[in-house]
Amino acid sequence: MPDRTPTQSFDFLVLGTGMAGLSFALRAAEFGTVAIVTKKNRADSNTNWAQGGIASVWAEDDTVELHVQDTLDAGAGLCREEVVRSILAEGPARIRELIEIGARFDGHPDPLHPGEVSLDLTREGGHSRRRVLHAKDATGAEIERALLKAVAAEKRIRVLENHVAVDLVTTSKLGLPGAPRCVGAYVLDRASQQVTAFAARAVILATGGCGKVYLYTTNPDIATGDGVAMAYRAGAGVANMEFIQFHPTCLFHPKAKSFLISEAVRGEGAVLRGADGMRFMERYDPRLELAPRDIVARAIDSEMKRTGADCVFLDITHKPARFVMDHFPNIYARCMEHGIDMTKEPVPVVPAAHYQCGGVLVDAQGRTEIDGLFAIGEVACTGLHGANRLASNSLLEALVCAHRAADHLAVHPPADSSCTIPPWEPGSATDPDELVVVSHNWDEIRRTMWDYVGIVRTDKRLRRAEKRLGNLQEEIREYYWNFRITSDLVELRNIATTAELIVGCALQRPESRGLHYNLDHPLADAGWSQRDSVMRRSRP
Ligand code: SIN
Repeated sequence: MPDRTPTQSFDFLVLGTGMAGLSFALRAAEFGTVAIVTKKNRADSNTNWAQGGIASVWAEDDTVELHVQDTLDAGAGLCREEVVRSILAEGPARIRELIEIGARFDGHPDPLHPGEVSLDLTREGGHSRRRVLHAKDATGAEIERALLKAVAAEKRIRVLENHVAVDLVTTSKLGLPGAPRCVGAYVLDRASQQVTAFAARAVILATGGCGKVYLYTTNPDIATGDGVAMAYRAGAGVANMEFIQFHPTCLFHPKAKSFLISEAVRGEGAVLRGADGMRFMERYDPRLELAPRDIVARAIDSEMKRTGADCVFLDITHKPARFVMDHFPNIYARCMEHGIDMTKEPVPVVPAAHYQCGGVLVDAQGRTEIDGLFAIGEVACTGLHGANRLASNSLLEALVCAHRAADHLAVHPPADSSCTIPPWEPGSATDPDELVVVSHNWDEIRRTMWDYVGIVRTDKRLRRAEKRLGNLQEEIREYYWNFRITSDLVELRNIATTAELIVGCALQRPESRGLHYNLDHPLADAGWSQRDSVMRRSRP
């Protein structure tokens, strides 16, 4: 029986409750109704997990030009310079607004301006100045708290928790003539297991990244590449997915799932040591532990392979214990839970998948190639990050681009959709024996990606991954069309598509650049500078 749940209509449908989605919603609610759909609870987002902070020109010895140069340097010849310049220049104004709605960053009384607070700035890899605003080591959680509070006070915003977007609805999917336009999405309510059509004048993908495509990641469970996969299926261009950033320092402990040790720890002086206790970064880069992330992650990977060790060690024991506990209370507490006192002993760490630098191709307003479909934050590829994101530039991008997308829609409101979205046709079969396929395929994709599409790649490994993913996709497609939909199946389908996009982009690029390192093409090729690897599916 087809699901007869009536279509819900809003001006704007936002997928995701991280910084990008919430910031957009707050601005857009000034001129329209907004539904925000989120897979789990409203605070389940990559933003909420962000430790380090938000990079912005704030100090007197800093300039936008210096921030631009650091970003271009990390981006390894692939950033769009005009995009970098404009996003970074807009950052301070947007952060002031964030502070006005209640986000609190660490600071101290300003001796020159009594009654005012001077914000404390930390440093991270690749930054030539201290410019990272932070709230201890839980900056994302503080931003998320402030945004959620503001959203809760806004009557025109409705937040739907435990709702999973299944697919976008476009006019071409509905068989209508003309250029394709996104008119809504099908959304699964996890509690009732019903799929409802949501109609909207514009759909905003703010779904974050895809760390769960890899076996080891610093990301929360929700990071399954949903936005990229849905946009690709709808026919939008997706670019530069080979540039997956591996964070150098994820806690290595059998019981510590996905726990990041912030780069700010290195920013405040921590050093990396091998199992023999010796430092090794001087053999890789003169910037040592504060070299850009791709360099540090590759150095760690190479040391682990060279010595056969399972991990390396991050050592901040030379700093006073009080300093460490004050600056990194959450990291300190989490390490203590696992019996590691970071004030007295080095912390075992390994690199893990952390950030997706490519994504859905967008312009400066967050517009994708499909009318009515926008993408902001980690899901989008604006050109800011190029081949390697500079630490703490991501929250800034999410904030600036969310405002831009909303401001664009305020001035250019999309036409009201006149088409009717038909109800979802559910598959009828449910066979519990087959459910195990979902978990097996999940595991196989994540291991394949880790083994063959990780920090160091080769053509042969990429081809091997392509083949395996192709077989898995066939199985998943069959399962998807024949069985009743579940959130696990939706996510499996999305990680499979995202994995294929990462491999497809990696195979397009016959060079090594930034985060994409291929032993068969170990050097950068000038012909590929400023050239995106793009994947597009023929439109339905
Ligand atoms: C960190 O705290 O190291 C993460 C910051 C980032 O990914 O930008």
